[in-house]
Amino acid sequence: MASKRSDDARSAADMSPEKKKKEIRVWMDGCFDMVHFGHANALRQGKQFGDSLYVGVHSDEEINKHKGPPVYNEQERYKMVRAIKWVDQVVENAPYVTTLETLEEYNCDFCVHGDDITTTADGQDTYHLVKTAEKYKECKRTEGVSTTDLVGRMLLVTKTHHQQDKDEIDQASVGAISKVVSESSSGPSTKSPWTGVSQFLTTSRKIIQFAEGKDPNPGDKIIYVAGAFDLFHVGLLDFLEKVAAEGDFVIVGLHTDPTVNRYKGANFPIMNLHERVLSVLACRYVSEVVIGAPYEVTPELMDHFKVDMVCHGKTPIMPCEDGSDPYAEPKKRGKFMVIESGNPLTTEMIIERIIKHRLDFEARNKKKEEKELKIMEYLKSKENKTG
Ligand code: CTP
Ligand code: C5P
Repeated sequence: MASKRSDDARSAADMSPEKKKKEIRVWMDGCFDMVHFGHANALRQGKQFGDSLYVGVHSDEEINKHKGPPVYNEQERYKMVRAIKWVDQVVENAPYVTTLETLEEYNCDFCVHGDDITTTADGQDTYHLVKTAEKYKECKRTEGVSTTDLVGRMLLVTKTHHQQDKDEIDQASVGAISKVVSESSSGPSTKSPWTGVSQFLTTSRKIIQFAEGKDPNPGDKIIYVAGAFDLFHVGLLDFLEKVAAEGDFVIVGLHTDPTVNRYKGANFPIMNLHERVLSVLACRYVSEVVIGAPYEVTPELMDHFKVDMVCHGKTPIMPCEDGSDPYAEPKKRGKFMVIESGNPLTTEMIIERIIKHRLDFEARNKKKEEKELKIMEYLKSKENKTG
């Protein structure tokens, strides 16, 4: 057994400036509007470059100036980024152009960004300062997901879509929405390789990278919640935060796309099941996800996962197809609890925000893609000249 003296010496060494210096602190920044699993995957990769991850999030004013109106306000965006499990610290109101002073102020060793190009309103690379100072590293952008695409999908969900007869709903249309949007809403026929791409392919590897992969500890209080968790938003986040405070291990059961379609109506879900799985797994309050959970919380499900408590928020509980209560079993066992998230936001309300500002968002989408296409043309012509 090590002596007390050597233990003390070791902890003193741990505190030495040399040791402290060894900790690598990574800086990442962005708008993180309607935080999606592409953002989460960038943050996951960013964290791997070092030991801790500081994330600068731009203010509404900065985003309005350089990109157009954000869907989420800054308080919502700060909160959403804080909830991503790879983030150690959020820096609010971070400047749009990353400066060396910012890196110094937060003691960050370098900046990481996805391998796409971000520019200011007047076309300047937002990372030119850190690139010149060789304090810039790149991670791989996640293809097939972007705020632009999600906004596009939502713009297709009009009031008349909501009123569509149930029989007319073709299940395939749920998955096809994003394809249609990518072909219709962004204007130019040539697609930007970044925001113009609209097909995400989920692999088992990606799920493994996002998952905790841990079993509950003996004696842990296991909580089960189920739902659509579509377009993972602040209302859902507030709910999960409250749920997590009630137990030790939170399992989220995600309903299949046809199930969500049955009880939420035409054109829902906006994100397919695999996309929803990744969004929920990125949340620090979630321990495990059931991919395609049954709508009814069955005795088998409760026994299999050794569920101590089932929770649901204050939103209405839609009955099962046969009209029964999906929570009848946990209620019978005295293991059902209503959780007040304190946040009235729903996926439908986000869609309403977007539809209300439809023209602004359409213009924003078009502008962003045109800007990216111009950058692509420039990079290609540079490549041709040097090649
Ligand atoms: N990012 C990524 N994959 C995506 C979308 C974003 O890796 N599909 C990364 C960006 O490269 C950046 C970080 O997420 O490093 C924050 O991005 P943000 O400024 O919010 O990004 P946008 O690129 O504008 O994201 P989006 O196109 O979804 O609006
Ligand atoms: O609507 P959805 O199925 O995604 O909801 C998942 C869970 O989150 C439900 O229990 C719902 O009541 C809860 N919720 C909440 N507050 C919100 C939105 C959802 O408590 N603002």
